[in-house]
Formats: sequence, structure tokens, C-alpha cells
Amino acid sequence: MKQTEGQTNLNDRDLTNLVCRVSSLSDILPLRAQELRSGKPMDSARFKEDKDKSTLHFGAFIGRNVVSCLTLIRCSGSTPASYQLRGMATLQPLQNSGYGRKLLKAAEEHLKTKHLKALIWCNARTQAVPFYHQLGYRKTSDVFDIPGIGPHFKMEKIIL
Ligand SMILES: CC(C)(COP(=O)(O)OP(=O)(O)OC[C@H]1O[C@@H](n2cnc3c(N)ncnc32)[C@H](O)[C@@H]1OP(=O)(O)O)[C@@H](O)C(=O)NCCC(=O)NCCS
Repeated sequence: MKQTEGQTNLNDRDLTNLVCRVSSLSDILPLRAQELRSGKPMDSARFKEDKDKSTLHFGAFIGRNVVSCLTLIRCSGSTPASYQLRGMATLQPLQNSGYGRKLLKAAEEHLKTKHLKALIWCNARTQAVPFYHQLGYRKTSDVFDIPGIGPHFKMEKIIL
């Protein structure tokens, strides 16, 4: 990939160059759409809770480029505080390089600063189950189908 002035080379897989932070929806939506709604319009990647005040978007950046993204949607009225993890994706050529793990761990650390105890759950695509499992998420359902997307398992993790 060509490096332009002021930007970091995306081929550089040194995790020390990766900055994980709370982000804006506009920063992460293009990546979410590209990796999770491939071939569909960008708007198909929007979640109805995207603009809720309690929704948290996170991005992992190399220079100005977002290479991994995720969104935490607060579930109302739950104890402990419960968040649905959605839109977890890493730019395809950079998958399996540790970026997704670093970003999800950063999001978990962020929740620890807000809550003594929280729960993160997600509907995990079957091919992503090993990724979540490695990070301590456990299956809490049988396999089920999300129409138009495919088979999923519900998974969750307590954050302390
Ligand atoms: C799933 C996804 C977000 C993981 O992000 P990533 O940046 O590739 O993950 P990492 O490189 O940080 O992986 C961390 C660990 O999980 C493993 N892992 C990641 N994806 C995996 C997969 N599909 N199968 C098996 N192991 C996987 C990695 O090998 C790595 O393990 P290691 O430390 O032993 O090498 C990414 O592959 C992706 O965007 N996939 C397409 C979109 C998608 O399916 N998103 C999930 C929706 S529920």
C-alpha cells in the first residue's frame, strides 16, 4: 500500500503504532460497512442506537487510518451494566494481526473506568467465535440464524 505524506504505512504491523480510542461514528462507519455489509450501501451498516448518548464507538488507528472498529450499545435497565458489542471488524488485509484483540481489550478497559462490574455480550458470527473465545467470551446460546447474515452464537463476558 502506498504511503502518503503524514500517514503511516498500513503494511506496518507493529502494534506499538496502533492507537485505540473512543471514536466518532463517522470515523468507523466506512470500515464497518466495508467489512460487515460488503457490497451493500453504507446506510445498511447503521445501527438504530448509533447516535444514542450511551453508545460508545471505538476505533484502532494507524496514523489517520482506522484499521479496526467496534461499537458498544448500552442495554437499558440492566444490572450489572450490560452492553451489546456490535460492528466488530478489522480491515481485511490486516486481520489476524492482533488489532482486533487490542481494540476490544481497550474497550473493556474503558468500561472498567465507568463500572465496577459490567457485562459485554454479542451475537458472534460462527467464524468469529474463536476470536471472542480467545478473549474470554463464552457461548451462552445454541447456534441461531440471523437472516441475510448467517449462523451466530450468543457470547458474553463479565468485565471486572
Ligand atoms: C473477527 C475479527 C474482528 C477479528 O479481528 P482481528 O483483528 O482479525 O483479530 P486478531 O488478529 O486480534 O485476533 C486475535 C486472536 O484471535 C484469532 N482469530 C481471529 N479471527 C479468527 C478466526 N476467524 N478464527 C480463528 N482464530 C481467529 C487470531 O488468530 C488471534 O489469535 P493468536 O493470538 O493466537 O494469533 C476480524 O477477523 C474480522 O473483521 N472478521 C470479519 C468481520 C467479522 O466477522 N466480524 C465479527 C462479527 S461477529
